[in-house]
Amino acid sequence: MCTINVLEGVVWLMRMARQVVLITGTPCVGKTSVARLLSERLNALHVNLTELAMRENLVLGRDEKRDTVVVDERRMKKVISRIVEGSEQTVIVDGHYAASVVPKKLATHVFVLRRNPVELRGFMEKAGFVGNKLWENLAAEILDVCLVEALRVYGSEKVCEIDVSGKSVNDVVTEIIEVLNGSRKCYVGVVDWLGKLEREGLLEEYLRI
Ligand SMILES: Nc1ncnc2c1ncn2[C@@H]1O[C@H](COP(=O)(O)OP(=O)(O)O)[C@@H](O)[C@H]1O
Ligand SMILES: [Mg+2]
Repeated sequence: MCTINVLEGVVWLMRMARQVVLITGTPCVGKTSVARLLSERLNALHVNLTELAMRENLVLGRDEKRDTVVVDERRMKKVISRIVEGSEQTVIVDGHYAASVVPKKLATHVFVLRRNPVELRGFMEKAGFVGNKLWENLAAEILDVCLVEALRVYGSEKVCEIDVSGKSVNDVVTEIIEVLNGSRKCYVGVVDWLGKLEREGLLEEYLRI
């Protein structure tokens, strides 16, 4: 009995050991806030892709039209692989293009954070998003762009969608930890922003491009 318990413990530890967790989603959805607290709670290494790109000089230039930087994804993939393979801790990778730069074989879980576009717009405006950049990113949230990319790269077994609307960072982190330790099931297809905005008569206002 005791042996079985020890064995179960070892298996649990191995399952928990060195997870590579991606936190993706539209800008301003709350990725960095969640990844920060999650890495504190798990004593994990937090890799923020925006900071990594700056620190490792992985920026190719600027996309003036989109008011954003263009990252060298090929080099970033190599840098991420080196970090993940060299870490003994669980690694939390946070960034809206995480699914494009973390090789499929390395990721153990991919969380796509989703936020009600009406709420997200408030967060984006607070962060200074205006004009095209605001509407393009809202359209990306409404049209499930990050979810579709995550599913394309990793398949539905590794992808978990979390509706963070109205939830605290702490609540979201608790939900993620429950999925990681196997006590909560995760799902995709949990939100339908198109349908919701349409029912509320807000679709034209929110989906401008
Ligand atoms: N659950 C939350 N509740 C309230 N405010 C939040 C929550 N998550 C993030 N924020 C705030 O929203 C803004 C964007 O969050 P951030 O974590 O930087 O998003 P992202 O990394 O996805 O761009 C920040 O000002 C942050 O403090
Ligand atoms: Mg961020």
